[in-house]
Amino acid sequence: MAAIIVVGAQWGDEGKGRVVDRLAAQADLVARYNGGDNAGHTVVAEGHTLRLHLVPSGILYPHVTCLIGAGVVVNPARLVQEMDALAELGLDIGPRRLKLSAAAHIILPSHQALDGAREAARGQAALGTTRRGIGPVYADKAARVGIRAGAMADPEAFARSVRHAIETHNDLLTSIYSQPPLDAQAIAAEFHEYARRLAPHLTDGSALVGEALATGRTVLCEGAQGTLLDLDHGTYPFVTSSSPVAGGALTGLGFGPAYVERVIGVAKAYTTRVGAGPFPTELTDAVGQRLREAGGEYGTTTGRPRRCGWLDLPILRYAARVNGLTELALTKLDVLSGLEVLKAAVAYERNGERTQYFPAELGMEALALWRPVYEQWPGWAEDIRDAHRRSDLPTAAQAYVTRIEEQIGLPVTFIGVGPEREQAIVSQ
Ligand code: GDP
Ligand code: IMO
Ligand code: MG
Repeated sequence: MAAIIVVGAQWGDEGKGRVVDRLAAQADLVARYNGGDNAGHTVVAEGHTLRLHLVPSGILYPHVTCLIGAGVVVNPARLVQEMDALAELGLDIGPRRLKLSAAAHIILPSHQALDGAREAARGQAALGTTRRGIGPVYADKAARVGIRAGAMADPEAFARSVRHAIETHNDLLTSIYSQPPLDAQAIAAEFHEYARRLAPHLTDGSALVGEALATGRTVLCEGAQGTLLDLDHGTYPFVTSSSPVAGGALTGLGFGPAYVERVIGVAKAYTTRVGAGPFPTELTDAVGQRLREAGGEYGTTTGRPRRCGWLDLPILRYAARVNGLTELALTKLDVLSGLEVLKAAVAYERNGERTQYFPAELGMEALALWRPVYEQWPGWAEDIRDAHRRSDLPTAAQAYVTRIEEQIGLPVTFIGVGPEREQAIVSQ
């Protein structure tokens, strides 16, 4: 009946894919609103483990239409590859089910090459990007020299634009970064084929979303990355180049705020981060290693080990404010089973001064001056993966969730106790 936004509340990989998959049972349209194939959203259901990069996480439900929205950046090679893999599983990925906004921007191999070259040039100060071309393609979009998906409606003209763009990027690659040029002609020919394949999926995404909302349907807006990777509100410059926050759903899909009924912030029961940048509650000791192993904390997209640490409540308060969260989805509670003591940052302190909110927007230098203040609580030993109700959880686990609710001032309406669709305690 309205728009529901699912947004990452930390540094990405919070479990957005599995939350969207579960909620999509009640949705009509599932729409990705930002990022590109830097995202990796895992859905474990119906005997499949899907690792989705561009296709929305509602794809397992035949009744759901999936939209890749205007705010997304699309590597057509990756999209075609992902569609083929899904078709092999027997899923319908035809143009009536899977739609691509004509306003989404196209990632070229030269964007990827530039991403890699800029990372290499930064040396020690590298951001640790996924090297998927995300920064360069959004830069071209903002500079108004990008190629939009709608151009694929005319494969010949599209191929000419691709060739021209690669030639321009080649100038940068060779003259500034001393890299070899890419074969513009061969890439243009390849992209001609992608255009033929993807053109039937093109749509006016805002019209699709607008009509669904106007006729009382439920639109589930799927965010990629997370609040602290947001270009404006994250830990700049260690961020991605899009708007993962809830506001990004409105600009990335093209609808207005009055339709938004729920904004669900997805958070792990602890914290992880891939790539470089500040992470005050990071654990570099045996506990961090244990979280990494128990939680399978290796990147879905790049396979890199994720940095792990304690839950950071000032981050969740910050995410609640920036996104206007109505509730929290807490995933991976099962990963904490067996830890004797659980710690969480409850505030930050600087020279006796305290703040309840993560000071992300103040920048790296200011952030470095603030220290997390911890509280510690007893853990639980029991395996909780079969819990279906909150009352099935050990008392200490119930108390952990309740404390989070009290500290953030929001209800936890989803608790993940395992990766599978049914391994969740859902209260709404
Ligand atoms: P996303 O990018 O936010 O969609 O998250 P990812 O899929 O990159 O990373 C989340 C990982 O945790 C995936 O491997 C999921 O299958 C897994 N996962 C999600 N929720 C739970 C949970 O409640 N318990 C456990 N053990 N794993 C989970
Ligand atoms: P999902 O949607 C976690 C991180 C990268 C790097 C920074 C910039 O699966 O949660 P980029 O390639 O975007 O220019 O890299 O952002 N990053 C993610 N970290 N989950 C993601 O997506 C991410 N997408 C990008 O590791 O630190
Ligand atoms: Mg991920």
